[in-house]
Amino acid sequence: MGLTAAGAAPALGFAGSARAATKGQPVGAEPALVFDPAAHTEQTIAVRDTTGTVHSVTYRFFKVASYVARPVNAAYQSLNVSVPVSVDGSPVDATDAPILLANSVGGYMPSSVAANTGIIASGMGGGTSRQALALAAGYVVVEPGARGRTLVDADGVYYGTAPAAIVDLKAAVRYLKANKGRVPGDVERIVSSGVSAGGALSALLGASGDSPLYEPYLAEIGAADASDAIFASGDWCPITDLEHADAAYEWNWGGSPLASGALVDQTLSRELTARYADYLPTLGLRTEGHGTLTARNLDDHLVEKYLQPSATRFLAALTDDARADYLAAHPFLTWSGGRARFTWADFLTHVGPRKKNAPSFDAFGLTTPENNLYGTGTTGARHFTLFSLRHEQGAGARLAPDIPAKLRLMNPMHHLVDQVNPHRAKHWWIRVGTKDSDTSLSVVANLATRLENLGDDVDARYYWDGGHGADQDPGEFIGWIAQVTGHRPGVRSRRLPGRGR
Ligand code: DHB
Repeated sequence: MGLTAAGAAPALGFAGSARAATKGQPVGAEPALVFDPAAHTEQTIAVRDTTGTVHSVTYRFFKVASYVARPVNAAYQSLNVSVPVSVDGSPVDATDAPILLANSVGGYMPSSVAANTGIIASGMGGGTSRQALALAAGYVVVEPGARGRTLVDADGVYYGTAPAAIVDLKAAVRYLKANKGRVPGDVERIVSSGVSAGGALSALLGASGDSPLYEPYLAEIGAADASDAIFASGDWCPITDLEHADAAYEWNWGGSPLASGALVDQTLSRELTARYADYLPTLGLRTEGHGTLTARNLDDHLVEKYLQPSATRFLAALTDDARADYLAAHPFLTWSGGRARFTWADFLTHVGPRKKNAPSFDAFGLTTPENNLYGTGTTGARHFTLFSLRHEQGAGARLAPDIPAKLRLMNPMHHLVDQVNPHRAKHWWIRVGTKDSDTSLSVVANLATRLENLGDDVDARYYWDGGHGADQDPGEFIGWIAQVTGHRPGVRSRRLPGRGR
C-alpha cells in the first residue's frame, strides 16, 4: 500500500477541527467542510466480480473526519471515499463517475466507518461487497456512518433515535454536494444503497430529497449548505412504512404459524388486518388490471405483478432437469408456456413460518427495534401507533406530541403520497426476497407501485425463495447504475444533452 500526499498521518477530510466548534457560534466561525483532494492513501485490492473473475483494483482512500461542522459524535458522522485509479493496470478516470453512497445501517443501529482503513470489500455472506463491485466498475464509493437508535450520552439521553440516521445521511449528501468539483465523481449522480433498515433509509433519502422538514435538524449539526437530493435509490428489503407495518404484517402473515408452529392471537391479527384494509385505499395506488389497490385485490396484485414473475425468472434460468426437479418437489406451482402460476394461499404455505410475533413493530411490551427507534430523551422506547398505545393505556391515550412529525420524517410514503416531493430521486432499484417475513411483502410493492404511479423509473423485483437481506443480482445493479446515469467507463468529461451543467 503506497502513501501519497497525506503521508502516514490520518487524513482529515476538512480543514480545521470539528471539536473546536461550539454551539451558538456564528456560522462564519464554523470549520469549513472542505474536502481535501490531496488527503488520501493509495491501496490495491482484489475484487472478484459476479462472473468470478478477480480484478486488481487500485484506489485512493479518503477519510473525512466529519461531514458536519458540529458533530454530536464524529465516530458516526464521518465518511470514507474510495476512488478507483486503475483496474487490472488500466487507468480509470472517475472524475465524472457516478457515486455509490452505500450506507451500512442494520436494525436502525449506529453505523460507523471511522475505524475502517479501506473500502469494505466483502459483503453479506462473504461475497464481494456492493462497494467493491462499484469500485471495480469505475465508480466512486462513499461509505457514510450514521447515528443509530441505541446511542446514549453520559446523561442517559438517547441521541441516535429518529430522525438522527436520516438527518446524518442527508448531511453526508450535502457534504458531497458542497464539495462539487473537489470531491471526485459526479455529485449530481449520487446513487444510494442500503439493506433492511439501511434499505428503508436509502428509500427515504431518495424520497425526501431537499424536504424542508429536516432543515432544523440539519442546521443543529452544522450540515453543509447544499442540496440533499439524490439521483437514484437502491433499496433491498426496506423495513419501512413502520406505522402501518403491524397491520400490513397481519394482512400478509396473519395465518402463518410462528417457528414454534403456533399461530399468533388470531383476534388481534384480524383486528390489525382490518386496519390494513382501511389504510390501503388511502394510498390511492393504481394497479394494472385491478384498479385501485385494496386489501381485496392486494393478494392478486402481489401474485401477478411480483411473485409469479419472480418464480418465472427463477425457473427459466434453471436447466430443464433442475426445473423438472423443482417443479416435482413443489407441486403447488404450475409451469406452462414458460410461466409459473400459483395461488396466494399456496404461496404462503410454501413460505412457511412467520418471523415476528404480533404486533410485529409496535410491540405491546416496547421490545422491538422500532420502539427504540421512536425513543426520545431518556426514554429508550415508545409506542408509535395508536393501536398499541391504546391497547396498553386505554382508549383515551394519545401519542406523544412529537411522534406524528417523527413518523413523517422516517416514512418515504409521506414524501410520495401525502406531500409528493418533486425533488425525489427518479430512478429506483427495489428488491426483496419472497421468503422475507421481516415485514409484509406488500411494503415493497406499495413503494414500487406508488413510484410507478408517479411516473418514476422503477426496477422492482422479488427474489424467488430469497430470505432477509438477499441480493441475487448484484452485477445487474452495477450495470443499472451505468444505464440510469449514462456513465461510460473511461470517458472523460462526458456531457449528456439536457443535463444543464
Ligand atoms: C432490520 C430487520 C428488522 O426485522 C427490523 O424490524 C428492522 C431492521 C434490519 O435487518 O435492518
